[in-house]
Amino acid sequence: MKQTRTQDPVALKRLTTFHIGGQPLLYVRPENYIELRASLSLCRRRNLPFRVLGGGSNLLVGDGPLPFAVIHVCAPGFAWIKRIGPATMKVGAGIRMRRLLRYCEREGLGGLEFMAGIPGTIAGALVGNAGAWGRSMGQVIRRAWRFDDELGKVETPVEDMGLGYRTSRLGGLIITEVEIELEPRSPELVARMARRYAIEKARRHPMNARSAGCVFKNPPGLSAGKVLDICGFKGVRVGGAQVSPVHANFICNIADASEEDVLQLIDRMRRKAHDVLGVDLELEIKHWSPESKVA
Ligand code: EPU
Repeated sequence: MKQTRTQDPVALKRLTTFHIGGQPLLYVRPENYIELRASLSLCRRRNLPFRVLGGGSNLLVGDGPLPFAVIHVCAPGFAWIKRIGPATMKVGAGIRMRRLLRYCEREGLGGLEFMAGIPGTIAGALVGNAGAWGRSMGQVIRRAWRFDDELGKVETPVEDMGLGYRTSRLGGLIITEVEIELEPRSPELVARMARRYAIEKARRHPMNARSAGCVFKNPPGLSAGKVLDICGFKGVRVGGAQVSPVHANFICNIADASEEDVLQLIDRMRRKAHDVLGVDLELEIKHWSPESKVA
């Protein structure tokens, strides 16, 4: 593997939309399958557990040294788009949602407009089954491929991904390619719909803030944002972290916030929602701490 692609150490705060996070033991950004295999061998030789990073847009990462390696799937070799049918595409896992949407607008491919305004890579969106306006990634994805250093490329059909509301069984796997099936639509209509969704999202959510999106999942039949708003959290601040004054289910890094600032806010939000309204809130964002086992 070329030395330039193994930067050691790199602070994850530079690679997450929260702008929070310390140094992993090893950081690799493979350009292709050969380098990906070499990265995995390196982790195996050094006996290092690893986490897979995509767009870093749904992540709270621990400060300071982190006892794992990070494999960042975002290099150009994993960020391509290939048309394989009238409205079917195969895309590299590291392709950014914004770039994919621009391609869809140009080519007149409809069905993904609901993702307008949501950051991150296609693989991250799939692993978290991201969505908006009652739609989610599982509705447009047909299959995906992951890479395993013993099995090589492994195909998984959408039915086997365990997709649910903001969840899947794919966490921790190295997704490398995704097949998406859309429908032919006029480019003007695709662009108009995407713009409408983006405007609607920007009206409700703090789009330009340093955040990781919605912090908690919506409990069945309820809105976490509304629950936290009723509890009086809009604008509440701990250190450099503040609950958005616009939407109470967003925490924003407004002044070099630490992981601890965010965790304290999360704890207060959870406890008050439980004590005042009897609502149990489940984290939507992923937390990579030295202790956490989840990928
Ligand atoms: N509301 C309040 N106060 C607040 C926030 C919201 O009263 O502080 C009210 C709103 O007025 C609205 C209701 O709560 O009546 C729902 O709020 P909103 O329309 O903003 O949607 P949401 O349920 O908070 C969900 C997803 C978003 C997705 C939007 C649009 C979750 C946890 N959130 O937000 O996804 O973009 O719908 O469809 O599923 C994400 O997953 O990170 C995310 C942001």
